[in-house]
Amino acid sequence: MEQIVSLCKRRGFVFPGSEIYGGMANSWDYGPYGIELKNNIAKSWWKTFVQERDDVVGLDSAIITNPKVWVASGHVANFNDPLVDCKGCKTRHRGDKLLEEKIGVDETAAIPFEEVGKKLNELKIVCPNCGKTDWTDARKFNLLFETQVGVLADTKNIAYLRGETAQGIFINFKNISNTMRKKLPFGVAQVGKAFRNEITPGNFIFRTREFEQMEIEYFIRPPKTENEWREPFEAWMEDIKRFFSDKLGLSDENMRWRRHDENERSFYSKDTFDVEYLFPSLGWGELHGFAYRTDYDLNQHIKHSGADLTYVDDEGNKFVPHCIEPSFGLTRTLLAVLAEAYNEEEVGENDTRIVMKFKPALAPIKVAVFPLLKNKPVLVEKAQEIYKNLKPLFMCEFDDNGNVGKRYRRQDEIGTPFCVTVDFDTIEKDNSVTVRDRDSMEQVRVKVEELEGYLAQKLQ
Ligand code: GAP
Repeated sequence: MEQIVSLCKRRGFVFPGSEIYGGMANSWDYGPYGIELKNNIAKSWWKTFVQERDDVVGLDSAIITNPKVWVASGHVANFNDPLVDCKGCKTRHRGDKLLEEKIGVDETAAIPFEEVGKKLNELKIVCPNCGKTDWTDARKFNLLFETQVGVLADTKNIAYLRGETAQGIFINFKNISNTMRKKLPFGVAQVGKAFRNEITPGNFIFRTREFEQMEIEYFIRPPKTENEWREPFEAWMEDIKRFFSDKLGLSDENMRWRRHDENERSFYSKDTFDVEYLFPSLGWGELHGFAYRTDYDLNQHIKHSGADLTYVDDEGNKFVPHCIEPSFGLTRTLLAVLAEAYNEEEVGENDTRIVMKFKPALAPIKVAVFPLLKNKPVLVEKAQEIYKNLKPLFMCEFDDNGNVGKRYRRQDEIGTPFCVTVDFDTIEKDNSVTVRDRDSMEQVRVKVEELEGYLAQKLQ
């Protein structure tokens, strides 16, 4: 993980937040290549799950909502983590996470909230900060970020930054079903920021207080048999697996699906999985949450708002739809994509290169264009001309710093699939350029007039 964090800073993917003011713990800014990568992941997700499907539409709902939304959703009462204090050094920790490291997720899930501190002491779990074992009882710590709306800092004006993008979808269910004339089953997708006042953020961008999610709420008819929800549930599992492997390039050996047992699962959920990724240094960590949430959320909003969120089918039957939820963390997915792409390779005697083997569609820069020599205007002019022609079609970079070898290394580190070099043969012989492939490092000559088609085909 250290190498990834260092590359991210050095090459402009992710910078420590508020750095010039001494930083802000666990806050991160996405640099020029980071934002390209993040946007490309979100674009690929949107294309897969919205553009290419007939049964999913998009939404962009507000981050600050009426606070009643979060009362109805259960977040105000139940979105709590067990906070324990170490009596030795006074640092605060998430008791459940400390237990999970020792006894695993399933056993931890069976321990009641009020027993967490006692169990930590019983199992002699040491404080990660000072190494002592002296824990307080756990207290409930609500993860919602409170803010005040308006000019007066008054309890009446309290609002919350959204703790998940999902609730924006539920509260717009009626607007969407009325305006889009969608027949069940249909889904609503949303990408955007979510905020949680995490007790123990960390591991780079894995757990932060401000992060991005890509969520879908897929509405189905109330099932009469288990098969009626299992079928779409399992179809979604296949679609999610395909997205992670085919679109993001995450390998099967780094992914696993962990089913929640009854203790861990929310009372309203009939089945829940965490899709986990094997993150370097950190081990298996949740990348994606997948659940059948029944009709819980819509019913909660019906109860609290008084609004009619029922659906009427063509036969006039009126009912509250049920919901399957694939919930992706965008920033956490970005970390998995970085980890999967990171390679250190031997290239000749005592020589190595770092290369980010992103899927071409995800790479921040698709094509880099170089003149062989910086001080030969004829080469620079031709390279500039090619660069300007390609730029409207692909994210491109022009580079004439240092020698070509150094430029290749830099482009390898940001994962650019193709480098195009203009040399004397281009000018004097056959109007062809060298195209170098990032992964194989092989070089081929391509005619300038065929370059656009060649790259478009390779970058598909
Ligand atoms: N609507 C369901 C929901 O929000 P979740 O499991 O709490 O479920 C879904 O979150 C995904 O959001 C997680 O799998 C993870 O990828 C991402 N996520 C959650 N908390 C996060 C945090 N503090 N930092 C970064 N990503 C987070």
